[in-house]
Amino acid sequence: MNIPNLILLFQVKQFIQDQSSTQPASGSVELENPQVEMDDFSEKDDETTEEEEENFLSAEEWSANLSGAERKERPTKRRKRKLRRKKLPSSVTLPVEIQENEKLKKYWYQRYRLFSKFDKGIRLDEESWYSVTPEEVSKHLAERCRCDLIVDACCGAGGNTIQFAFTCEKVIAIDIDPKKIELARHNAKVYGVANRIEFIVGDFLQLAPKLQAEVVFLSPPWGGPSYMASPSYPLASIQVPGGGEALYKAAVSISPHVAYFLPKNINTSELVHMVGPGGSVEVEQNFLDKKLVAVTAYFGELVDSA
Ligand SMILES: C[S@@+](CC[C@H](N)C(=O)[O-])C[C@H]1O[C@@H](n2cnc3c(N)ncnc32)[C@H](O)[C@@H]1O
Repeated sequence: MNIPNLILLFQVKQFIQDQSSTQPASGSVELENPQVEMDDFSEKDDETTEEEEENFLSAEEWSANLSGAERKERPTKRRKRKLRRKKLPSSVTLPVEIQENEKLKKYWYQRYRLFSKFDKGIRLDEESWYSVTPEEVSKHLAERCRCDLIVDACCGAGGNTIQFAFTCEKVIAIDIDPKKIELARHNAKVYGVANRIEFIVGDFLQLAPKLQAEVVFLSPPWGGPSYMASPSYPLASIQVPGGGEALYKAAVSISPHVAYFLPKNINTSELVHMVGPGGSVEVEQNFLDKKLVAVTAYFGELVDSA
């Protein structure tokens, strides 16, 4: 099923370059567009609207609701109130992990944002429901990372890996959790791209010295929905031993071309400091349906200097 323009995605890029050749850069860098609505999506958006939570939409309805043409004719408030009364049909069976945890239901309502082919048999576990990268964002990142061989260091249930398999010749998908690799492999089959992916169960930090690749993509755990608790998220809070900087160092030991998917409240001055004197980093804001959901930091030749 083709769902055209399912979700509007905007990028506001900010190019941050350390001009200093002798001193590490310091000081805080403000991201553009401060007026933007700062709601999250899953781990990336934890604030689903009441309307989204209470209305059941089929994939087709979802697509129609969000396509560019239809969007101009959004339902009026009165129409919204009417929609609100529409309840989940009894014929709909929720996945077991959603049935067992009422709090996950709001993520299920967003399922076509996560995977447009959700109804073809996509499987997720509890953690993946709130940590998978939404498909339109993953597609965009996959375009930016287009190459022959990419490592997806923390592949989870495969949100990014699947899209990399469409733009890269080969993907090495790693996760420390065997269950995630099982899910990612299954979900890649749903998208018909499993044959382009090598799946590895293991700790990326341990595996890095043995890996070769053109590009490394990092989408580590941010610490669950509570990552927004502080106004500025420190790299040290990334949930891997040694924190976010250790993860970056492991990645650049493989290739200087790194894309790092990070919380929208990341302390960007730490990123500038991390690349050091003369280094550069591009910080891109990733929007989904007008909501800022995350930022991606690009390093090496992934930096778009145009
Ligand atoms: C935010 S999720 C990735 C989601 C993924 N990008 C997607 O769209 O489906 C982070 C993943 O990192 C994995 N992880 C945590 N520490 C790791 C490590 N040291 N090496 C490899 N994977 C790790 C977790 O098991 C989790 O599945």
